[in-house]
Amino acid sequence: MDQIELKLDHKTITITLPDGVVADPKLLDGGHPLGYVVKQKNATANYLSRVAELLKDIRVDNVLEFCGGIGLIPLTLNDVIHWKKWTTVELDPACKTAYVCPNVDFKLQNMYDPIDLTADLIFMDFPSNTIPKMWREPQRAALLKRIADSRPKYWEITDVGWYWIHLANHWPIYQARFGKQVTRENYHELFDEYMRETYGYQLVKHTLGGGAGYYLFSPVEVKLA
Ligand SMILES: C[S@@+](CC[C@H](N)C(=O)[O-])C[C@H]1O[C@@H](n2cnc3c(N)ncnc32)[C@H](O)[C@@H]1O
Repeated sequence: MDQIELKLDHKTITITLPDGVVADPKLLDGGHPLGYVVKQKNATANYLSRVAELLKDIRVDNVLEFCGGIGLIPLTLNDVIHWKKWTTVELDPACKTAYVCPNVDFKLQNMYDPIDLTADLIFMDFPSNTIPKMWREPQRAALLKRIADSRPKYWEITDVGWYWIHLANHWPIYQARFGKQVTRENYHELFDEYMRETYGYQLVKHTLGGGAGYYLFSPVEVKLA
């Protein structure tokens, strides 16, 4: 058994990985928890701290998480938002074997397959989302539309676009959709614009760290306290 200690801003968590657990090679990329929790401890702790910072002021009972991995997010948030029911959707059976958080309903399935979307918070810890992937990948667009139609009070999307936006080959895609040059300064504004126009959701808070951005949305008609 491997024991890994992650020092988050608000607590230290200890992950115990069973011997012989091996990620599905088709899913093992830079965004797989069985890769980064072992090889990038500081970045993992930073990512979890940023998620806790993002959500610390919201109150939700019922959470549905896509791309749930080994359960680092519910373990991080159990004393931050005091969730009551957490359902997670994850494709890699190795994540089920290595799962670290008790009291979670683990659904071993593809996120694009049908599932009950009733939740106060939908958390999408995508390994490699960018704004253009949301319209260029039809399966992803269809899932996002189903979520928007289910009107969760809060909707989190993890996105890596900010980290790649210095590469000029990405710029024309944003220029064609938004009519302006994308930059690190305006990436969150374009995300807000896309979510408002496409799904009727507005950006309420975002934060960056550990290799991704974490963007929290609410329906435009909900007035936030
Ligand atoms: C960024 S990690 C999320 C890690 C997770 N938050 C945790 O606590 O371990 C992305 C996860 O998405 C999973 N994944 C990739 N494609 C998927 C799909 N189509 N359906 C469900 N999960 C998927 C990967 O196996 C990986 O565990």
